[in-house]
Amino acid sequence: MEEIVAKKRMLSGIKPSGDLTLGSYLGAVKNWAERADQYECFYFMADLHAITVRQNPADLRRRTLEQLAQYIACGLDPEKNTLFIQSHVHQHAELGWILDCYSMFGELSRMTQFKDKSAKNADNINAGLFTYPSLMAGDILLYQPDLVPVGEDQKQHVELTHVIARRFNGIYGDVFKIPEPFVPKVGARIMSLTNPLVKMSKSENEDTGRVLLMDPPEVIMKQFKRAITDSDTENCVRYDKENKPGVANLMTIYSAVTGKTYEEIENEFVGKGYGAFKPVVGEAVVEHLRPIREEANRLMKDKGYLENVYRDGAQKAAYVAEKTLRKVYKKVGFVAK
Ligand code: TYM
Repeated sequence: MEEIVAKKRMLSGIKPSGDLTLGSYLGAVKNWAERADQYECFYFMADLHAITVRQNPADLRRRTLEQLAQYIACGLDPEKNTLFIQSHVHQHAELGWILDCYSMFGELSRMTQFKDKSAKNADNINAGLFTYPSLMAGDILLYQPDLVPVGEDQKQHVELTHVIARRFNGIYGDVFKIPEPFVPKVGARIMSLTNPLVKMSKSENEDTGRVLLMDPPEVIMKQFKRAITDSDTENCVRYDKENKPGVANLMTIYSAVTGKTYEEIENEFVGKGYGAFKPVVGEAVVEHLRPIREEANRLMKDKGYLENVYRDGAQKAAYVAEKTLRKVYKKVGFVAK
């Protein structure tokens, strides 16, 4: 008799706090789509997380739906993946609160993202910004996933999730599965095109060197043509992250969208300088993103379809999440309803 082996589970999310960038695509969504057949997958729009920084309500609503359209356009088939909006599954907020009570002040204070965001939003260092990692631990642990694919900057939060889960399991027995972060080899940290020392970020404006998934070709080309390369006199396309961070970043992007290795890229551009390299990277990105942009635009016009997807997704997600939450409530000593 054929043995039925349960698929491993994978979960991840993105905050709709800005339009998706090439960074979030290469560091996260592209890797999700490539593994969709091997895993049972849960992907969500992290709107609860987005409001830790003040949002314009209409923009947040629009971006959440656009993000769903973009997930699907990137290859996350709603028939195979559970796609949902975080705030539609109330168990996230509930487990988040419980885990607040198992997260230590010192641990949360040490989070790099908290330190960065508090520096950038000095007039709004709210409690949600501080306890953000406990909510994220809740997002993850509710689904008992095996793998959490994220970019480099989120690894620290996944590691703290381990600490919180182990603490909880240590008191109550094996309630939570301890998941592994999955950080891609190429593309885990895409840098700004105008400052290769800082991460490409969705919350910043065009001048900060970001490329959006939905940018039209001429904007993408403009961004790549004005990308900062290195001020060395070598003018040679060579991978050296330490000394040539601008060129290394462009090579990473080119490698991620074409599948070429760094060595192949170096050979392709022998004798050609940065001036020749930059538009070629731009064109490769344009061609890679073109079908995604077209499909996302088409889906955005079909609000009824998107509504069906997120409603169905929330229902499936809540079914799994509720099982974990009930177990947690029982373990901590809450009276059953
Ligand atoms: P967020 O919304 O900041 O980013 C979404 C994903 O994209 C990755 N990423 C990048 N990767 C490479 N280069 C870049 N420049 C770049 N910018 C962003 C991020 O590492 C991330 O994987 N807290 C999370 C959202 C979240 C979550 C979760 C993720 C909430 N709950 C549970 C996983 C599991 C966040 O703010 O990601």
